[in-house]
Amino acid sequence: MSGTTRDLTEASSTVDTSSFGDRRHLLTVSDLERPEIEQLLELTDTFVEVSNRAIPKVPALRGRTVVTLFFEDSTRTRLSFETAAKRLSADTMSFAVSSSSVNKGESVRDTIETIEAMGIDAVVVRHKSSGVPAQIAGWTNAAVINAGDGWHQHPTQALLDAYTLRSHLGSLDGVRISIVGDVKHSRVARSDIEVFTKLGAEVTLVAPPTLLPPSTAPWDVRVSHDFDSVVGSTDVCYLLRMQRERMTEALVPTLREYTAHYGLTSARADRLPDGALIMHPGPMNRGVEIAGEVADRPNAVITEQVANGVAVRMAVLFLVLGPGRASGAKNEISSNGAG
Ligand code: CP
Repeated sequence: MSGTTRDLTEASSTVDTSSFGDRRHLLTVSDLERPEIEQLLELTDTFVEVSNRAIPKVPALRGRTVVTLFFEDSTRTRLSFETAAKRLSADTMSFAVSSSSVNKGESVRDTIETIEAMGIDAVVVRHKSSGVPAQIAGWTNAAVINAGDGWHQHPTQALLDAYTLRSHLGSLDGVRISIVGDVKHSRVARSDIEVFTKLGAEVTLVAPPTLLPPSTAPWDVRVSHDFDSVVGSTDVCYLLRMQRERMTEALVPTLREYTAHYGLTSARADRLPDGALIMHPGPMNRGVEIAGEVADRPNAVITEQVANGVAVRMAVLFLVLGPGRASGAKNEISSNGAG
């Protein structure tokens, strides 16, 4: 990868995507090793530069079609994938279950086969059930990108979070990250834990026992039930949303009590070390897991996470769809002919 970031900023340039090999889908971060994650983050630098241009567009995916297939609500992920595809000059199709024939009983498989018949190259899928993107990958010749499946995975969220941290800290090696809140129901937590630890961070999960999975043994993490004891030694405080739509039982006595013990209140935010960063994947419940005032502090990088999401998703689309990728050849990105 050396030199490729510089090269990509030039009018006609190349990027070596060989470490992605023949990877056609992005279904889980478990598949990604540190060199691949680092390559993707380095490639993202290029697409941040493209996004900052007066005309933020390159012809890299001209002639390709990307469909966003969302069976579950989204603001950030869906709009940023659509923006990413457009900035790469791909054609886009958008599917929302609320206005589709799924409401007339059409199955996921029939839906994907119907969309594929129109000619598509990549499907960006979100579904409330874990494993649906992997199932779809078995039914289509298109590249499949997981945009969130149940409690399981949200790969591009973890990649944009890692990119945001890297842009502030340079490296995640030895960085103390506290992931606070509803880990049990969180695909963001599962994806972030894997990516952050692969990049060398020291991760502590902070939650009541009822909001943790039955075992955290597979992860290289510490666990604390006492936010006050870890807040003063936290370089990055990552708040998770209380996912009430995924809770089938009362897992906290009241939201007020949850906030008292596990919310990033103004008082707790004041105890973070100088320079500590505050993150949240959104959507936020202001006043529950994070005080409204804290979310607006200068060290809260929540809107930066959103902005970086577009460039990270450009990198992901480019890696799974870029010309010659499957052969591991050098792909051309030219700013000429951007339209
Ligand atoms: N972070 C995230 O996935 O947000 P959306 O649900 O709005 O896509």
